[in-house]
Amino acid sequence: MDLGLKGKNAAISGASQGMGHAIASALADEGCNVAISARGEERLEQAVKEFEAKGVKAVGVICDLSTSEGCKKFIDEAVAGLGSLDILVNNVGGMIPGTLDSVSDEQWAQILNVNLLSHVWTTKAAVSHLKKSKAGRILNVSGVTGKQLLPGALTTTLPNAAIIGFSKIMAADLAPAGITVNNICPGFTNTESWGPRAEAMAKVRNTTADGVRQAIAGQTLLNRWAEPQEIGDVAAFMVSEKNSYMTGTTVEVCGGFTKYL
Ligand SMILES: NC(=O)c1ccc[n+]([C@@H]2O[C@H](COP(=O)([O-])OP(=O)(O)OC[C@H]3O[C@@H](n4cnc5c(N)ncnc54)[C@H](OP(=O)(O)O)[C@@H]3O)[C@@H](O)[C@H]2O)c1
Repeated sequence: MDLGLKGKNAAISGASQGMGHAIASALADEGCNVAISARGEERLEQAVKEFEAKGVKAVGVICDLSTSEGCKKFIDEAVAGLGSLDILVNNVGGMIPGTLDSVSDEQWAQILNVNLLSHVWTTKAAVSHLKKSKAGRILNVSGVTGKQLLPGALTTTLPNAAIIGFSKIMAADLAPAGITVNNICPGFTNTESWGPRAEAMAKVRNTTADGVRQAIAGQTLLNRWAEPQEIGDVAAFMVSEKNSYMTGTTVEVCGGFTKYL
């Protein structure tokens, strides 16, 4: 199926590795130009080269998306580099494990700024550009902890649930401008950030990193983790012109982790 992405311009936040990288890669495979952001220069430059090798225009923007200025810089430089904007993927996020007692005020600010407010600030900066597209698309990346209770996942549950609400309200606000806003909700995905995270969880649970990974896989119907590309491929369809009658919707790509009807 031709998704109609060839020649479109997309900005993907937090995309030098992991899920964002996989989404940008899936878009580039469809001939879509990509602007990607991260704080670290080396991996970002490497990703830009990788996408250029696929025959599309690629722009790397070094910025800190935990601030509104950083988010605005991302969109300003993405538009300057690509010429216009059709698609925004709000992907950036991270995880600080902890409990109500252990997470500090500074850590809460960091979590909410990067995982939630970055989506708000980047959307705010991008809307005037997306309005000029004939098929403007916003895709927010949340996570299954925003849909189903996962005891212990306090710091991701809050932003993920809020992102789902944000997607819904923005879908209503931007529908008159012809912009669709959807939410992709990945399950446990084998990204780089899980390396040290699984090791840390293993220490707390008195097991090995492999033991942690197997226990998590066992909570899915497919009994395995997602590979980032599996999220990227669904995301590419969701922001394409082919996906023309979906807005305000959350799509779970989680191997059957969520168990409600
Ligand atoms: N992996 C999973 O199992 C999973 C499951 C559900 C949902 N998610 C969600 O999916 C998204 C991506 O997760 P991931 O596992 O792919 O993360 P990741 O591997 O840690 O990658 C995060 C990316 O964002 C960039 N980044 C982080 N903080 C930034 C900041 N303040 N400013 C600019 N760029 C920043 C990182 O580059 P720099 O470090 O160089 O800045 C990197 O490119 C997150 O929203 C996460 O909550 C992940």
